[in-house]
Formats: sequence, C-alpha cells, structure tokens
Amino acid sequence: MSGSEAQEFRVALDGVNLTLGGRQIFRDLSCGFPRGQISVIMGGSGAGKSTMLRLIGGLQRPDSGSIRVAGEDVTKLSETQLFRARDRIGMLFQGGALLDSMTVFDNVALPLREHSQLGETDIAEEVERRLVAVGLPDTGKLYPRELSGGMARRAALARAIVTDPEILMVDEPFSGLDPINVRRIEALLVDLNRRLHLTTLVTSHHLASSLRMAHRIVFLAQGQALAGPPDELLQSADEGVVRFLAAEESDGAWADAAVEESDPEGLHGAATEPPVDAKLAAERS
Ligand SMILES: Nc1ncnc2c1ncn2[C@@H]1O[C@H](COP(=O)(O)OP(=O)(O)O)[C@@H](O)[C@H]1O
Ligand SMILES: [Mg+2]
Repeated sequence: MSGSEAQEFRVALDGVNLTLGGRQIFRDLSCGFPRGQISVIMGGSGAGKSTMLRLIGGLQRPDSGSIRVAGEDVTKLSETQLFRARDRIGMLFQGGALLDSMTVFDNVALPLREHSQLGETDIAEEVERRLVAVGLPDTGKLYPRELSGGMARRAALARAIVTDPEILMVDEPFSGLDPINVRRIEALLVDLNRRLHLTTLVTSHHLASSLRMAHRIVFLAQGQALAGPPDELLQSADEGVVRFLAAEESDGAWADAAVEESDPEGLHGAATEPPVDAKLAAERS
C-alpha cells in the first residue's frame, strides 16, 4: 500500500494474519476503508466478516500485521488505551439486541452512562435526538418486546451512534428483516452516513442492498480481500467473487420474493410505520 493511499483510509489493515481454532482466517490480508464512505464487507459464511469488525474494534488481536483505526494501530494499544479508542467507534453486532429488561430510552442511554459524564437532562436530550434520527421519536418509554423487528434494529442503531462516533460498524444489518425493512435500514444507513459523515463499515450477505448503498465493496475469500467500487466488483473475473455472486443472485432473489408474498408481519409493519425517508426529510426541514 502506498503512503498516499494509506492517508485516504480511516481504517486500514496491513499484512494481517489470524488463525482461530486451527484454521487460518486471514492470510497476509491488506485492505482499507475510506473516510466518510460506506464500505460493505461481503463474502460467504465463515469468510471472516464478523471477525474483521472485531479486529478493527480491538476485540480480537491478530497474530501479526497492523490495524490502523483513525491514525492509531489498535494492535499496539493496551486494554485501557483500547477502551478510549473505542469511543470513536459505534458498533452494532449481529443480533446485538437491545436489553429486554430496559426501556428503549435506557438502552440508547447506556453508552452515555458508561462512557460520558453527562447529567440526566443532557442524556435525555441526546437520546431523543438519536431516536429522531433513526425515525423513532417518542418511543423511549417502550420496551424492546413492543417493537417490530425493523424498529428494534433502528433503536439499536440509535444506541450505536449515541456517543457521536466517527466510525460506525454494523454486522449484518439486514439479517432476518423483510424486504421493506431491508430498504428502510439501508436508507437509514445511507442517510446517517451522509449527515454524520460517518466512516461506515457494514457486513452483509444482501447483494442488492450492498450494491445500492456501497461506495466500496471489500470482498473476503480465502483469507484475503479484494476491494473496489461495486461496478468493478460486478465485472470481476475473480473466481471467488463470481461464485459468490452467482449463488447470491439465485438465493437472494428467491428469498426476497418468498418473504414479500407470505410475510404478513412485513406488510403490517409497512402500514403502521411511516417510511424512514419521510421522517428524516421532515426532521431536516
Ligand atoms: N473465537 C473463535 N474460535 C475459533 N474459531 C472462530 C472463532 N471466531 C470465529 N471463528 C471461525 O472463524 C471463521 C470466520 O468467522 P466469522 O468472522 O464469524 O465469519 P462470517 O462473519 O464471515 O460468517 C469461521 O470459520 C468461524 O468458525
Ligand atoms: Mg458474521
């Protein structure tokens, strides 16, 4: 990687090796994530997408190689330094569910109570601001069980951005959602990226959404990364990419159509929840 190229990346992995449970997950892997853009990390199941986010968040250390996040090599930081460095990163893990015993408000407030010195009045203001940003105003008093799947995902996103991170990492944001909510979460991620200038890293199996929302796609296969703009990836002759895209096209199209036909909850959600786009537009005006 050249020096000037490294400069554009807000997150960059260089020569990363990682073996887990006797299996080499990453093999001299290098790739970068441009500042302020949406990068989608793709690849088959077990390719290492979630592991890559854990490495960047400093939750997992590589066997060798460097991982620069906002100018710091997280592989060289102590636990205390890592705790501070994570303030810059909002993370939403797959199934990173809200805590059932707490209201939506308390769930979103949690990172502020743990990581900031803010008083309750300021916390209330910050929480409501983020709930508005994800299209869920006035839902603070509800409990997670009272939310639809799409709403719960948005509340979890509100929690991930409540500390004003510079980098947002979201693991499989579309999993388990019907096509309407996939579109909503996608629109929300695009909107948050634009408005908050977040460097956004998303892992996804969902090909259509990934192609629509990504400025850049990082494709993982055989322990290495292949990165570029979506149209470049689509034209790629790389065997791993071609095989993955072919499988996704048939599976993905079928799965979406099947849910659209038969999922009454998805349709119900569409009728009762205002579209995120409209809400966000209203908020801006
Ligand atoms: N803590 C661990 N110990 C052993 N193997 C692990 C561990 N975490 C992940 N793996 C393995 O690493 C590989 C990559 O996992 P993961 O990053 O979850 O893949 P993906 O998110 O792309 O589906 C998988 O083969 C998984 O079984
Ligand atoms: Mg995963």
